[in-house]
Amino acid sequence: MIVTTRALFDVAYGRFALGAYNINNMEQTLGLFEGHMRARAPFIIQISRGARKYAGVKMLEHIIRAAEEKYPEAVFAVHLDHGDEQTCYDCIESGFYSSVMIDASHEPFEENVAITRRVVERAHAKGLSVEAELGMLGGVEEDIEVDEKHARLTDPDEARTFVERTGCDSLAVAIGASHGAYKFSGSQGIHFDRVAEIRKRLPGFPLVMHGSSSVPAEEVARINAAGGALDPSAKGVDANDFAKAVPLGVTKVNIDTDGRLVWMRVHREHFRDHPENFDFRKPGRALIDAYAAFIAHKSGKLRSAGRLDEVRQALERSDAVPA
Ligand code: G3H
Ligand code: 13P
Ligand code: ZN
Repeated sequence: MIVTTRALFDVAYGRFALGAYNINNMEQTLGLFEGHMRARAPFIIQISRGARKYAGVKMLEHIIRAAEEKYPEAVFAVHLDHGDEQTCYDCIESGFYSSVMIDASHEPFEENVAITRRVVERAHAKGLSVEAELGMLGGVEEDIEVDEKHARLTDPDEARTFVERTGCDSLAVAIGASHGAYKFSGSQGIHFDRVAEIRKRLPGFPLVMHGSSSVPAEEVARINAAGGALDPSAKGVDANDFAKAVPLGVTKVNIDTDGRLVWMRVHREHFRDHPENFDFRKPGRALIDAYAAFIAHKSGKLRSAGRLDEVRQALERSDAVPA
């Protein structure tokens, strides 16, 4: 069942985080639903502009609708990841999305406020909620690359002013992580002190953590043992940190790179071990199973595992209209 992002946030805030995963194809989608059913967890499906270009807008919509039918117990929202203004409007008008992210974080503050405000007005008129971003994560997202020197943590006072002026429903905050496989070196990690300061100024307001893949060392080692060439110093967010971030208002946790690593490991190992195979369904099946196991594991770390029944009951009690 596709529900509003707002309804999921209302149940989750301060108690658990919703995993938000990017999808691009059928195998990933099947693994995503299968894993969440195993964990009995609610979740958010994210679609990037890159995914819309790759698979096609309608193809993604129909894959998700088919999965919704195949897994009638699943409770999830559909969200545009890192949208520009026009893509936000396209998604708002499409009637398919639960929420959009307008990412104008690379613009000067006033311009970010103005763009976000325009998107919020259009989205709220149609019942969708809006995630905005303030501060700059390092790494690559869509066509924009932010080098580590220019990455900038979210300023807590600016965050409060930004939310007040834009009316956005959740805020992606830059708190140390970055997109991709190379987030930290040495003992670097999430700046919890900064999240706590933001929360003090925005109590009860959902915060979003982008760049939350863990890039497990064992996964990198397996990929490299099967012919990959990832830098073995690749390092991500400690998945045990999700539980520390939840009481600080982090309600949505974006994960994409880790899923790509599962894809890479499964395929490299498969073709290393079965060089004669030319049936794509064999690695495809292995990917769906491995992806489901990965999702179930993450749901435990996010504390969203086992929440499905309580989320369903809360949705029935509230008047949260399915999106
Ligand atoms: O932050 C971006 C996500 O990892 C999506 O990546 O734009 O290559 O689909 P993508
Ligand atoms: P990762 O690159 O850490 O998976 O982050 C994904 C993300 O933030 C998508 O918006
Ligand atoms: Zn992101």
